[in-house]
Amino acid sequence: MRPWKLTCVECATAFPPLEVRYRCSCGGTLEVQHDSPSLPDDRELDRRLASRRDRDRSGVWRYRELILPLEEDEIVSRREGNTNVYRSEALEAYTGVGELFLKHEGENPSGSFKDRGMTVALSVARLVGARAVACASTGNTSASLASYAAACGLPAFVFVPAGKIAFGKLSQALAHGAHTLQVPGDFDGAMRTVQEICDAESIYLVNSINPFRIEGQKSIAFELLHELEWKVPDWIVVPGGNLGNSSALAKGLDELRALGRIDRLPRLAVVQAEGAAPLARAWRSGRPFEPIAEARTVATAIRIGAPVSWRKCLRGLAATRGVVVSVSDQEILDAKARVDGCGIGAEPASCATVAGIRRLREEGVLGPGERTCAILTGHLLKDPEATVRYHTADWEGFETPRANSPVPLGSSLAETRRHLQEILASPPPRP
Ligand code: F0G
Repeated sequence: MRPWKLTCVECATAFPPLEVRYRCSCGGTLEVQHDSPSLPDDRELDRRLASRRDRDRSGVWRYRELILPLEEDEIVSRREGNTNVYRSEALEAYTGVGELFLKHEGENPSGSFKDRGMTVALSVARLVGARAVACASTGNTSASLASYAAACGLPAFVFVPAGKIAFGKLSQALAHGAHTLQVPGDFDGAMRTVQEICDAESIYLVNSINPFRIEGQKSIAFELLHELEWKVPDWIVVPGGNLGNSSALAKGLDELRALGRIDRLPRLAVVQAEGAAPLARAWRSGRPFEPIAEARTVATAIRIGAPVSWRKCLRGLAATRGVVVSVSDQEILDAKARVDGCGIGAEPASCATVAGIRRLREEGVLGPGERTCAILTGHLLKDPEATVRYHTADWEGFETPRANSPVPLGSSLAETRRHLQEILASPPPRP
């Protein structure tokens, strides 16, 4: 018998560890509850960090006792995680936060934080003997699923809103051989479709409604705190779309505290894009959560009106004295120009985090001396169109003050030299 069970977050009904189900009969979502959670001491964790074995080197499976205790040969891993934490004076000045850490989850194998959940979900898919796996996605989940499914030879079906996912992500799904199904309408419709298809066709669903995805996602918190030598930051800030990641972070942090590994919880801030902010709206108004019909934002990764994990997320926010904030598309693009301009770079949804931190500082929610950690969820190259449109100032409705447009050159070397000399004589202001 495996040392965990699945329990309903609403009514606490328990189900067997590897039962293929995503909801309780009461409608509540499920989560993994470990029978006897533990985490090895730092010596052992550091030994694993230096090891050459997949199970130790992966920034997810290194913490396996608190993720999912599987055997080595049961794991489908691409040595995910191990993402860097950066500092940037320019971004500290921009946000007004004295100590800002940026954990770059875009450095995962498929370029987003989704790999952390996917390695666990695909390992379980094999354990339960799934004949195929599927997800709905705004792009990154599908890219990650395509990669991990290819790595272990399982057929994958990804349902994406037609014309609404960034090119980098679409290209990954196609390249890794996933059956890519473009659904008319938006992500929320694709999410409904995939749930029905998975039920009807007995295909294993690996969206974040799958509790094993959440277990893998928690490792962001473990790896971050391990890196910070368990010195708890005051805030951890994430973008919110389907709200799986924020829920996972809250669960992971709570488990670390229960084990005594950290002595308090950081506050969690979830940042939504203004046109896709059902949680922020409920939060501000104090009214019950309600999905919104047509989500809209340039940050296509978080263009979601009916997030599946909103209840889990609210629970996590309550536990961490968290907050929800929304930012405009202009704020997202401004923040992205700064994140990209300082040499780090990330996709638009990730930069909503930095915009949100700036906003929370302005509103006085977050103090200038509070140690803050931003999770940059996806790589700059995921959405080349957004970056190029900004820098060629080809974006109606938006200001692009930091556009760095390409310069067409003729064939004359003398002219080229003159051009460079002019630039070098008056270097443009840097961020
Ligand atoms: N940032 C990026 C880059 C994302 O791709 C997503 C979600 C989020 C933030 C939000 O995370 O959904 O856990 O609240 N992308 C999903 C996808 C929906 O299909 O790739 P969340």
